[in-house]
Amino acid sequence: MIEQISIKPQEKPMPFPQRSVPVPGTATMRVQDQDSASALVNPVKPTAESVNAGKQLYGIYCTPCHGASGTGNGLVGEKLSVKPFDLTSEAVQSLSDGFIFGYLTFRGTVMPSYANDLSPTERWHMINYLRHGLTPAAPQQAGIQPNDQAK
Ligand code: HEC
Repeated sequence: MIEQISIKPQEKPMPFPQRSVPVPGTATMRVQDQDSASALVNPVKPTAESVNAGKQLYGIYCTPCHGASGTGNGLVGEKLSVKPFDLTSEAVQSLSDGFIFGYLTFRGTVMPSYANDLSPTERWHMINYLRHGLTPAAPQQAGIQPNDQAK
């Protein structure tokens, strides 16, 4: 009876369940699901600092699949059954900031969730980069040059 699969007190360190602990660095933004995330408005202004922060994070987390240009030609992306979408395309650029925030939080089909790796603020920086750094569209408004040094 004493030999059971149940976990005994003090037996081993128990990791916290995923996403039960806030990622440090910012106020935690709680969203329940993709639908409620879609209604969120980006609270981070697309300043040069924000876009640059997004660019750095993009280089670390997104280039393997989406490529430095964002067109989906990353080395890992090539191997996937579902090809990474072209982030510079009309289809993706017409998504709302909130939807993309939800996508990064809750994952796509093949694309993983970034809720544990990127704080909410970092996710918004990333969205500012997708809008104002990755594409030539509207960079002037934000006073930012389109990427290309991003390689
Ligand atoms: C493991 C490869 C991989 C990585 C890393 C990755 N993606 Fe994706 N992404 C995909 C794939 C594949 C799709 C196509 C749909 C799907 O599988 O979710 C996609 C789709 C998307 C979409 C389009 C969603 C839509 O509905 O049109 C956005 C936006 C996106 N990714 C942003 C990002 C950002 C920002 C990062 C970095 C934080 C990132 N992705 C990292 C593979 C990846």
